[in-house]
Amino acid sequence: MTELAVGAPRLAVVVVAAGSGTRLGRAEPKAFVPVGGRTLLEHALDAVFAMPEPAHVVVVAPSSHRDEAAAIARRSAGPARDSVTVVVGGDSRLASVRAGVSAVTPGVETVLIHDAARAFTPVDVFERVVARVRDSAGGVIPALPVVDTIARRDPDGAVVEQVDRAELASIQTPQGFPLDAYRAALESVQPDAEHTDDASVYASAGHPVVTVLGDDRAFKVTTPWDLRRAQQLVSDDRPSVRTGVGIDVHAYDDARPLWLGGLYWPDEPGLAGHSDGDAISHAVCDALLSAAGLGDIGSRFGVDDPRFTDARGEVFLTATLDLLRDAGFDVVNVAVQVVAQRPRFAARRHEVEALLSRVLGAPVSVAATTSDGLGFTGRAEGVAAIATALLRS
Ligand code: CTP
Ligand code: MG
Repeated sequence: MTELAVGAPRLAVVVVAAGSGTRLGRAEPKAFVPVGGRTLLEHALDAVFAMPEPAHVVVVAPSSHRDEAAAIARRSAGPARDSVTVVVGGDSRLASVRAGVSAVTPGVETVLIHDAARAFTPVDVFERVVARVRDSAGGVIPALPVVDTIARRDPDGAVVEQVDRAELASIQTPQGFPLDAYRAALESVQPDAEHTDDASVYASAGHPVVTVLGDDRAFKVTTPWDLRRAQQLVSDDRPSVRTGVGIDVHAYDDARPLWLGGLYWPDEPGLAGHSDGDAISHAVCDALLSAAGLGDIGSRFGVDDPRFTDARGEVFLTATLDLLRDAGFDVVNVAVQVVAQRPRFAARRHEVEALLSRVLGAPVSVAATTSDGLGFTGRAEGVAAIATALLRS
């Protein structure tokens, strides 16, 4: 039995990212084009580092972007940064693959070759390929059925015959091989041979290649149209959530009844204000409006609007909710902190939470504290409430 060095990976992933992206037509090499604020290379490495099995990762970069590739790879690898190598690629994809494979560390048994341009390939495709290489001891490629009708044409464009698409498959990466046999196959092909993928190199040395199921998301970003598809995919994936914050303060006014958190509090000093002075409800409204980018309660519900004279907190909350819904937002949750000497909050906290949660149709949590005798709340001059809100669009 051979002893493996502790931590020495048995798997390597070579990510080829050295192409210029002529068909994409951007200034930077294709793997360094951002999609949703992150380069295609970063997106591609997400799945590589999400694999449960540790792997030696070799990134093959254009010489102009070697340092940038190294920084990206280190960032993506996180704690696995010691298992990353960056090398410079060549003029053809095959030359880049050669450069990457020659950097793979000893002890590796299985190598995957992956196009950085297939940046959204899910991790389970990687896992399927690895598992099958180990089962079959042969080459493995992810494939999808061809959906279009395929025709063979002559050089003038006339259709010669239709090809039975049931026999065809569309081939993706990562492509996986037993490392030693793959290295030998690479040695035996002519440097200028036309090989658009790695399995054809392996097959040309007489080895069997089998397919496993690929994935639509493993499409190759080749043209500007593909880039738009990638942008769409990233924006679909990203949850559109927004946070907001709101603060409200009202002074005590013994002549008024106390309304706070939408509840009436008998035998407590009231709060001054044009409305009922419900600092909790107002802070929540401000947090909601702030999250939606819709301004604040003062600019939305002015003091000259008769609907809001002496209005209950619930009226403001409902009017705020209407504005949010019109703007396409839903409330995810709201949290409130009250700072006040009076009223004593603990006994009715759940009642306030239940009422506000019902009005907003989302969980509202409320906590209360005093300020250790300091400031206007400590001197029992008034109530302050601070709220945060999370919205989803
Ligand atoms: N690739 C590479 N080195 C090359 C050519 C290609 O590492 N000399 C990589 C690309 O970075 C890409 C993958 O191989 O991740 C697939 O190639 P392709 O989609 O053809 O990318 P480009 O060659 O960059 O694009 P184009 O052919 O449009 O110039
Ligand atoms: Mg190319």
